[in-house]
Amino acid sequence: MDETKQALNTSIQVKRTALDAKKFVAAPSTGAALDKPQPCPPAASDSRWPLSPARPELARDEIHAWCAGLDELSSDLPAFAETLSAGERQRAERFQFERDRKRFIARHGLLRMILGRYLNIEPVRLSFTCESRGKPALAGTLDGRTLHFNLSHSDGLALFAVARQFALGVDVERIRPIPEIDQIAGKFFSARESDMLNALPAEQKLEAFFNCWTRKEAYLKATGEGIADALAQIEVSLAPGPTAQLLNVAGDAREASSWSLHPLAPAPGFTGAVAVKARDLKLACWRWPEKFPAARSLR
Ligand SMILES: CC(C)(COP(=O)(O)OP(=O)(O)OC[C@H]1O[C@@H](n2cnc3c(N)ncnc32)[C@H](O)[C@@H]1OP(=O)(O)O)[C@@H](O)C(=O)NCCC(=O)NCCS
Repeated sequence: MDETKQALNTSIQVKRTALDAKKFVAAPSTGAALDKPQPCPPAASDSRWPLSPARPELARDEIHAWCAGLDELSSDLPAFAETLSAGERQRAERFQFERDRKRFIARHGLLRMILGRYLNIEPVRLSFTCESRGKPALAGTLDGRTLHFNLSHSDGLALFAVARQFALGVDVERIRPIPEIDQIAGKFFSARESDMLNALPAEQKLEAFFNCWTRKEAYLKATGEGIADALAQIEVSLAPGPTAQLLNVAGDAREASSWSLHPLAPAPGFTGAVAVKARDLKLACWRWPEKFPAARSLR
C-alpha cells in the first residue's frame, strides 16, 4: 500500500474508532419553524437548529448549513431512492449492513432535495461529478447557476453546507470518549494544538479534541484534498465556544487568515465545522423538516 493510502486509512480508522458505538440521547424537539436565519448555537449547547423554510433564499454572502437525522427518514427512503443515479444506487448496494445502505440513500436523496430546492430543479435531474480526490460537485451549468456544497455524516446525523460563490467543506463528529486521546493528538495535531488541548480544563478536553478534528477536516474538505496527508499541517483554534479560527496552513498564517471557520453544533453531543475561503459570510443553520433523532441509543 502506498504511503498516502496508508495515511488515509489510518486517519479514517481513527475516525471510525472515535465513532464507536455509545449512547446518544437527543433533546426533545422545539417544534418551532423559523424563516429567518438564526445564529448557530455553540457546540455542546442544548439548542436545536430551527426547522428549514420550504423555500430558503441563499444570498451570495451566505452559507446555509442543514442537519438531518438519517434514521428518522425511513418512510421517505423509497422516494429518495428514486431520485438517485445508477452510480449512487450501485454505491448503496455495496454496503454490507442495511443500516449503512439506508443512511447512504437518505443522505444522498436529501442532498438532492436540498440542492434542488435552491436551484428550483427536480432532485432526480441533478447530476454530479467528482474532483481528483473524490470531492463531489454539481455537473453541468444548470442554466448558468450552480451551488457549492459539501456533506458529512456521523452516527446517523448528516450535515450539509451550501454556498453560491465559494467552495466549502464541512465535517461533523459525535463527541465520545477516546481512550488514546493524547496519542491521536500527538499524531494528527500540531505541537501548538496539542499544547492548547492540554491547557484546557479536563471537562473541555474531549469536545476540544473533536472541535480540532472537525475544523481541520472541514478545511481539508473545502480544498478537496482530504485527510490523508495534511491533518498535522493545518492549525486551528479548538477551545469550545462560539468562534473558531484557522491559524496556519502549512506554516502560512497569511493564507489561513483569508479563510473562515464556523463552529457548528447541529445536535446535542455532536460538534462540527464549516470552512470557506472568504471572510464575513453570514451563516444560517436549518434542520430538515419535522423529523430528528429521537431520544434513543445508536448501535
Ligand atoms: C473526504 C474524507 C475526509 C471523508 O471522510 P469520511 O470519514 O467519509 O467523512 P465525512 O462523512 O465527513 O464525508 C463524506 C463525504 O465527503 C464528501 N467527499 C468525498 N471526498 C471528498 C474530498 N476529497 N473533499 C471533500 N469532500 C469529499 C462526499 O460527499 C462524502 O459523502 P459520501 O461518502 O456519502 O459520498 C476522506 O474520504 C478523504 O480524505 N478522502 C480523500 C481521498 C484521497 O485522498 N484519495 C487519494 C489517496 S488514496
